[in-house]
Amino acid sequence: MADPTARELKLIQYLNEAYGKEKQLETTLQAQIKLAKPEKTLEKRLKDHYKETKAQSKNIERRIKALGGKADAGPDLPGPDAVSGAVGGVTNVANKALAAAKGPVQALRGTGPEDNLLRNVRDAYWNEAEEIAHYNVIESAANALDDKETAQLAKDHRRQEERMQKFLEGQIDKLVKSVVRAEIPAKERKAPGSTTRSSSSRSSSRSRASSGTSTSRSTSSGSTAKKAASTTKKAASSTRKAASTTRKAASAGTKKAATTARRSSAASRSSRAKSSGGSSNGASTSSSSSSASKS
Ligand SMILES: [Fe+2]
Repeated sequence: MADPTARELKLIQYLNEAYGKEKQLETTLQAQIKLAKPEKTLEKRLKDHYKETKAQSKNIERRIKALGGKADAGPDLPGPDAVSGAVGGVTNVANKALAAAKGPVQALRGTGPEDNLLRNVRDAYWNEAEEIAHYNVIESAANALDDKETAQLAKDHRRQEERMQKFLEGQIDKLVKSVVRAEIPAKERKAPGSTTRSSSSRSSSRSRASSGTSTSRSTSSGSTAKKAASTTKKAASSTRKAASTTRKAASAGTKKAATTARRSSAASRSSRAKSSGGSSNGASTSSSSSSASKS
């Protein structure tokens, strides 16, 4: 095969850098899969992505070969040729060393298993970002150099990395909550001096109420609407009571009641004089009843 041209060398260079990253991640993902065991969904997705990553490495190897180069993931692999050694070797040595160092480091760091898992997912997230950046560059370079196959490969790989990154992003809240539960005492989970109740205390109040073991506090906080309805009923009832009191007092002939009755009938006369409806009558009853209920 003829020596690669400058165009091919450039594409081989970028492809080899992505290849080194994929090979690094094959090692890293294996360590992450072991640590993700308690989180079954995460473990399964990491396993799937491990398979995806190995397939990506193979795709890149084939593409580099088609361009007249040789994929090189580092000094441990046999026979880096002149092209891959010149354009990808340095990067791949670094990738390999980084991957080798990363497995054991990931097992040791962190303040507990939950924290460790969260850190691994954070690393996995930025690894995906780095891969996405590689494939963006390759796709753009391939388009600029009219290499449709390389452009398509980069596009396909980028989409896989984006899907993985999105999945990882979706894990963060859950894993952070696990860290908080494991490491932060319940009483320290809200800002000092905070007066607002935390969402966890709200939800526990809700669950206590629904399980039938609610305290008077959760009842009063949870039934504002019922309270308001009851207040309205009480007001209506006191209106009826007051009207009845007025009638009784008038018939009993006490001085106060007579006065009230006189006022009431005066108001009635005046309102009849002003209008012909019963609505003003009702208003007068209601105002006299409200003063009656106060006394
Ligand atoms: Fe990948």
